[in-house]
Amino acid sequence: MTSRAAVILAAGQGTRMRSSLPKVLHKVGGRAMVDWSIDLARRVGCDKIIVVCSPGGQAVQDHIEAVLGKDAIAIQDPPQGTGHAVLCAKEALAGFAGDMVVLYGDTPLIPALAVEQLFGELADGAAVGVLGFEAEAPGAYGRLIKNGAGDLDAIVEAKEASPEQLAVTLCNSGVMAARASKMFDLLASVTNENAKGEYYLTDVVGLAREAGSICRAVRCAEDDVLGVNSRVELAQAEASFQTKRRAELLVSGVTMTAPETVFVSYDTIIENDVIVEPNVVFGPGVMVHSGANIRAFSHLEGARVHSGAEVGPYARLRPGAVLEQNSKIGNFVEVKKTRVGKGAKANHLAYLGDGDVGDGANIGAGTIFCNYDGFLKYPTKVGKGAFVGSNSSLVAPVSIGENAMVGSGSVITKDVEAGALSVARGRQMQKSGWATSFRDKMAAIKAAKKK
Ligand code: UD1
Ligand code: CA
Repeated sequence: MTSRAAVILAAGQGTRMRSSLPKVLHKVGGRAMVDWSIDLARRVGCDKIIVVCSPGGQAVQDHIEAVLGKDAIAIQDPPQGTGHAVLCAKEALAGFAGDMVVLYGDTPLIPALAVEQLFGELADGAAVGVLGFEAEAPGAYGRLIKNGAGDLDAIVEAKEASPEQLAVTLCNSGVMAARASKMFDLLASVTNENAKGEYYLTDVVGLAREAGSICRAVRCAEDDVLGVNSRVELAQAEASFQTKRRAELLVSGVTMTAPETVFVSYDTIIENDVIVEPNVVFGPGVMVHSGANIRAFSHLEGARVHSGAEVGPYARLRPGAVLEQNSKIGNFVEVKKTRVGKGAKANHLAYLGDGDVGDGANIGAGTIFCNYDGFLKYPTKVGKGAFVGSNSSLVAPVSIGENAMVGSGSVITKDVEAGALSVARGRQMQKSGWATSFRDKMAAIKAAKKK
């Protein structure tokens, strides 16, 4: 296969986001938009990925350096249009001889199949492949102008278009593929003599046609190429992603009582025969195995839930929570960086942090793993089959032995040995008749005052 590269344009200012965070770092489905494009590039087999950044966008450059390395950054200074932006990646792609695709840091939801089809057109002999869509409101989009053979003749920007061209509803998504050498040759001839005074990437189609080459358009759904310029469009992209993923999960065998109220992340994995009740949020990094039950109003993030486990209603699983088979985490229980063993239970009002709960252990209502002293975190271990009575504080580092019991209301600061009972609370005393005589005495005092 011809080697592949991607150039991701991310040098725009994104002022309409009204944000101190650069636009391409805003998230859709829990992942920065530019990371969606990087992931897409990888999925279609691009082994070189260059991101074109603006010189002032330090946060974006730092992000790209962390994800792809310094060599993946090309700087566009100053921005002079999309064609100029792609040219800025030329140096970074020096020596690369394969096919390239232009993607965007603010267009996160493009299906890999569409890009594969663009590369397919190149393999089929086209010099340039362009991803287009039927626009509901073509407005300011560039129009894809076809010739009699159904091939692409030109892309005309709305500002430059004639009334007949403006009537065309097949629009340019911006995504374009070409042999890299061809792309840079064509871009060298692009001028900025146009309405915006910019170097248009779109001009390469007309130039390729003049040179006698074939250009082709590949179609996809408008939703798939939604570019984000504002928070309104960010919310639209999010909604579009959620709708699509929910449908895929349903088809794959996940039961969702009210799918429109369930929110997933880009990497959420839910196996078949999982039941997800209404109003559940899956943050990044969650895997739920077949046969688990995620009950209403639960929030999961960075967690793994094994078969037969039950979560919620109203549970919170934070990063590092691992629920083994048939374990149960009930209402108002928070679990962080803690493994909950097979069949173990924490059914009500508890915090399990930095711990390990053995198989079959029972954590009573109101139990807190006191994992933090204001400086460092410490582990709590509860052995297999142990029983921790309600409203106990386990002050870490501490361990409760196998099959041990902790009396309700205990503050446990020392390890409990296997099979033992540990009770650490004030001893109960009783004064017979004390309450009755106290009441009588106080009532008499109050009555005397009223006279
Ligand atoms: C571009 C296309 C248009 C298409 C539309 C789809 C051109 C000339 N026009 O128009 O046909 O319908 O996208 O949304 O390509 N960028 C840079 N550096 C620049 C200019 C732009 O990095 O100098 C980046 C922007 O950050 C943005 C993207 O390229 O992500 C598109 O640029 P924009 O100016 O929004 O192009 P449009 O005018 O919308
Ligand atoms: Ca745009």
